[in-house]
Amino acid sequence: MKLVLEIVLLASAGVVYSADDCKRDMEVVCYYGSWSIYRNDIGLFTTEDIDPSLCTNIIYTFAGLGLDSKIGSLDPWADVEKRGFANLTGFKEQYPCLRTTLAIGGWNEGSIKYSVMAYTEESRKAFADSVLRFLVYYGFDGLDLDWEYPTSRGGLPDDGKNFAALLKTVKETIAPWGLTLTTAVPIDVSLLNTAYDAKVMAEVVDYVHLMAYDYVPSTSNVTGLSAPLSAIKVTVGNWIAAGLPANKLVLGVPSYGRNYVLKDSEDHDVGDPVLKAGEPGLYTAEEGFLAYYEVMEILSDPFLGMRSVHVDDTNYAYGNEEWITYETETSVRTKAQYAVDQKLGGMMIWSIDTEDFLGLYGTKFPLLNAIHEVLKQNKLKV
Ligand SMILES: *[C@@H]1O[C@H](CO)[C@@H](O)[C@H](O)[C@H]1NC(C)=O
Ligand SMILES: *[C@@H]1O[C@H](CO)[C@@H](O)[C@H](O)[C@H]1NC(C)=O
Repeated sequence: MKLVLEIVLLASAGVVYSADDCKRDMEVVCYYGSWSIYRNDIGLFTTEDIDPSLCTNIIYTFAGLGLDSKIGSLDPWADVEKRGFANLTGFKEQYPCLRTTLAIGGWNEGSIKYSVMAYTEESRKAFADSVLRFLVYYGFDGLDLDWEYPTSRGGLPDDGKNFAALLKTVKETIAPWGLTLTTAVPIDVSLLNTAYDAKVMAEVVDYVHLMAYDYVPSTSNVTGLSAPLSAIKVTVGNWIAAGLPANKLVLGVPSYGRNYVLKDSEDHDVGDPVLKAGEPGLYTAEEGFLAYYEVMEILSDPFLGMRSVHVDDTNYAYGNEEWITYETETSVRTKAQYAVDQKLGGMMIWSIDTEDFLGLYGTKFPLLNAIHEVLKQNKLKV
């Protein structure tokens, strides 16, 4: 199968290609939010806006779970009719080393359905079989399992053990076809102890994508940094101490900011009182959330007079009652260098559709490019 695949790729790409040519020192993982096709104006993002040369793995989000415990499309219009799946997997004709994988789950899917599916060996197997068929049918290279989260949000205490069993079953089912299994994990240390078995993950998961952001939730009543490096270091240390090899852990950075409305415009430090989540961005339209290009639009508006502060290798900005925590090229570079120093498996970004993909404030995809700069400086091949 592997050989056949290579011959097909060779024929289609018209280049000499072998698995060895695709060996890389670090992963650069790009999450793609397929609902960005519904955004307006400069927010509209289609697969044509993706630059596959900047990613080693592009992850299509999200597929969902049916009540029959099988994987399925959550949006057949975007995924199939508008060819979201086909466009993404089609990038491999031009980029034969690219992996295109499919994520199932995400926040909006909730946890309970997954808890029920993972509960018996029979339903775990039914799920794994459906995943294999689905991935092969649409031409994906692997599954990214984003159950948010085992044991929480209505799940069962046994979810941790069932999740480990689920990962094993999925891996055994899809690996013979050369398909990879990755998973996204949150920063909560309590979940690391109850929901995830790092030793099992070390054996069966190709990469663990650490969602190293939202250290302070959007519902917080005080301001806080979304991705402070000091806290990230603790989280990474916990995962490695729990038994996950560093080179399987991929460090995530957010290409979005979180905003809040301050209670008092004079109190604008970290930890100061918040009235409520911030006004939605013009294009992403979600309270307490701003795409990187929306943050840049606010910061570069002289009438708003925002001031920015760099602290703990991340950033916040304030002006009047607005308070924003966000990443810059500089803070992303620092995080990428940290990942290099720790010999982590790579860097991940959530998500490429909230990056400055049009290059409105400089080069296109400045944050992704910041990661590449650091890897290049360290003479690492991606
Ligand atoms: C797929 O590509 C076509 C152009 O080839 C484009 O019109 C369409 O919007 C793309 N689909 C998605 C979901 O981005
Ligand atoms: C925020 O909520 C916590 C309890 O959840 C409370 O102890 C604290 O005083 C609150 N802070 C502010 C500034 O309202």
